[in-house]
Amino acid sequence: MSVTIIVGSQWGDEGKGKITDLLSRDMDMVVRYQGGNNAGHTVVIKDKTFKLHLIPSGIFYANVLCVIGNGVVVDPAVLIQEIETLKTQGFPVDNLRISSQAHVIFPYHRYMDQAQEKKREAGRIGTTCRGIGPCYVDKFNRRGIRISDLYNEKVLKEKLAWNIEEKSFLLENFYKFEKKIDLDQLINEYLGYAHGIKKYVVEESTTLVDEAVKKNKNILLEGAQGTMLDVDQGTFPFVTSSNPVAGGACIGAGIGPKAIDEVIGVVKAYVTRVGSGPFPTEITGKLGEELREKGGEYGATTGRPRRCGWFDAVVMRHATKINSLTQLAVTKLDVLDDLEKIQICVAYEYKGKKIQDFPTDIYRLEECKPVYEEVSGWQEDTTKVKDYKDLPKKAQKYLKKLSDLAGARISLVSVGAERGQIIRI
Ligand code: GDP
Ligand code: IMO
Ligand code: MG
Repeated sequence: MSVTIIVGSQWGDEGKGKITDLLSRDMDMVVRYQGGNNAGHTVVIKDKTFKLHLIPSGIFYANVLCVIGNGVVVDPAVLIQEIETLKTQGFPVDNLRISSQAHVIFPYHRYMDQAQEKKREAGRIGTTCRGIGPCYVDKFNRRGIRISDLYNEKVLKEKLAWNIEEKSFLLENFYKFEKKIDLDQLINEYLGYAHGIKKYVVEESTTLVDEAVKKNKNILLEGAQGTMLDVDQGTFPFVTSSNPVAGGACIGAGIGPKAIDEVIGVVKAYVTRVGSGPFPTEITGKLGEELREKGGEYGATTGRPRRCGWFDAVVMRHATKINSLTQLAVTKLDVLDDLEKIQICVAYEYKGKKIQDFPTDIYRLEECKPVYEEVSGWQEDTTKVKDYKDLPKKAQKYLKKLSDLAGARISLVSVGAERGQIIRI
């Protein structure tokens, strides 16, 4: 009876996978609305860990229809691998659907991604090199190839020939990136993928979503990445090439804004970022490393170490504003269990003045210094707590402070990676 968006409030990896899986129990449909296999969403069920890159995190419930929405970019080889892995782990994946409007990642997108990163050197974004940006560029440049095109050999051939000619020229002459792309070989490869995923492809995914809305079903729209990686609202240009924010859910799932009932911002009790770009509350040195080890902060997709920092209320307020957050799901509270002192960034200092609003111009942001408030840690194990009232008083106080600063109420607190380690408020 409701449509809920799950959105990352920071720089990604907030625990969207865990929260989506958790809420999926009561859902009829889960739609992934943007991004591609740059995402890595972890779900831990008992002693088993699953890392999803493209398939919505509701897939573990056979009765929940899981849709890869029109806003996603799909690398079919990765998708097929993911389907196969899930099958061998005992999940039939019959509940998966793929929008025919989703765009397809080709090897030349990956090459372009790698070549651009290589050429940029100092200004490197630190992308996942999965071809995400170049695929979205082709989409917006109106030369992208959609899932539906894979079933029209003539169109596929024409579009591919044009794309290969262009990319080969750029790779060879501008980027000096030696990769030969063979049209016939690529067509055969992708026709094979098309065959492999055909049973999941739906011609009109937006109709599927609309019918669920009309029937008052429970629908979850699962975002990838996070608000600060949004191409419009994040730390541009150190962002991803899509709109992870709540507005992006309407576009990428094909649903009108008035159909949305709740927007849950997933937020770590601290902050992490993987890849380059400004990060005002970054903790360097030993403490940063300790937090990384305790939190297992290594990328679910690339394995890269994540940079760790203190909770940043300026970033959080930005997320509340941009996404119209109605609830917060705070994750990884347990990672702070041992700390004697915890810092909370409540504002930034810019040119001698305190500012509350997040500066979206990174050159201004670079001049900002976090203003911290220190609170004492609770130094107790929270990983077995099931009830809010059983949390240490100091942990409750910390959460209350986060909620007040964010301007949104907390409905979920996660105290461990496993499905059951959750406190509902
Ligand atoms: P996502 O991309 O937002 O889905 O997040 P990731 O899966 O990339 O990263 C979150 C990591 O934290 C994963 O390894 C999760 O298993 C883990 N995790 C999620 N919630 C908690 C929690 O409350 N405590 C701890 N310790 N780990 C958590
Ligand atoms: P989930 O959904 C964290 C980062 C990359 C890089 C920037 C651009 O698991 O939260 P891209 O390959 O998208 O062009 O890289 O975005 N990035 C993520 N960081 N979590 C993610 O996804 C990310 N997806 C991309 O590290 O800084
Ligand atoms: Mg992740």
